[in-house]
Amino acid sequence: MQHVSIFDHLGGQLGRLCQVLGIDPETPAELLAGILGRYRDRPLSEPPVWPSDIADDHSPVEFSVAYNDTERPSLRILAEVSGTQPGVIENMSAAYAFLADRSARFGLSTRRLDAVRDLFAVERPHGDFGLWCSLVFRAGHAPEFKVYLNPQIAGPDRAPDLVGEALHRLGLGASYRAMLAHAVRPGEFGRADRLAFFALDLHDGPKARVKLYLSHYDAEAADVARAAGVVAGIDPAEIVQFCTSTGGPGPFDARPLVGSYTLTENADRPVGYSVYVPIRSYVANDQEARDLVAAALSRHGFDPALLDRAIAAVATRPLADGVGLIAHASLRLGPPRPGVTVYLSAEAYEVSPPARHRQPRLDPLRRPAA
Ligand code: TRP
Repeated sequence: MQHVSIFDHLGGQLGRLCQVLGIDPETPAELLAGILGRYRDRPLSEPPVWPSDIADDHSPVEFSVAYNDTERPSLRILAEVSGTQPGVIENMSAAYAFLADRSARFGLSTRRLDAVRDLFAVERPHGDFGLWCSLVFRAGHAPEFKVYLNPQIAGPDRAPDLVGEALHRLGLGASYRAMLAHAVRPGEFGRADRLAFFALDLHDGPKARVKLYLSHYDAEAADVARAAGVVAGIDPAEIVQFCTSTGGPGPFDARPLVGSYTLTENADRPVGYSVYVPIRSYVANDQEARDLVAAALSRHGFDPALLDRAIAAVATRPLADGVGLIAHASLRLGPPRPGVTVYLSAEAYEVSPPARHRQPRLDPLRRPAA
């Protein structure tokens, strides 16, 4: 019997998603093969080469479908590249090599990344990742690349200054201070409110963004609504409505709510905000998650039928038989493209069994150590 490889599994899902979204599958498949690199033919029956935190089952890739007001939904891949000897530093080097190899062909600009890269290059990394890549596919456009760096890489105590220095170098210090003044609950910076990701677009257009992500442990929807208030024109009620309609009334004491701030030059505060609800921790199974997300999509003017086709492209099981296929639901507010994003797990290695009810409270010990 021929074995099924990780590329067979992920490539099949990717190809079907491209078909659903009207995207030419050739370049996406090629890039996926590049991400998997030397491991592309590894049989699925073998454990993952590296316990990536991209997904609960350590699949190295997570898909997402981003609905937009002005154009067809885009398809995105969040991915971790694994090095020859997988490890945080080795994976980071492998990711840099992956990007360098594609830089000329896809016209990547690493100007911002080069300006801050040394800050994230530590000898003894903390946490479980150094650099993740995101690829965005829009019908009729060249793929766009983004990187996610780990603000905690030099240790939790260093994260605020590390990010402060990185943003200062990029001319975004004022936006950072404005964000901190609003987004963090009093006394909780580095505790219940933590810097989670530092993301950069790898292009150099006027709209190139830096995004900063905060995880809010044990938060209420009102906490993230207040956090979003630093961005002009955001309706806090819309944020509360999105969080509670997808994740329930709160408190969000299983996986944390996450907020991201879009920072651009020539602004003294963030210009965009997104909230990410880890819906899988707040539903019993994926049928429930699907129904909640479909309702949220309709409320925002998007077609839920497309969601069902995207789910069918990825799922290998009935929705009620597990939880976590729909990992997050996110509401994006502000430029460049407001909308709703749905994150779909590849479930290459494992399906989480359905919960009887919403998931139990996260053991306080599972919070990252202070
Ligand atoms: N799996 C991790 C988590 O759930 C990281 C992650 C993947 C994530 N996609 C995400 C975090 C989307 C926030 C939003 O935390």
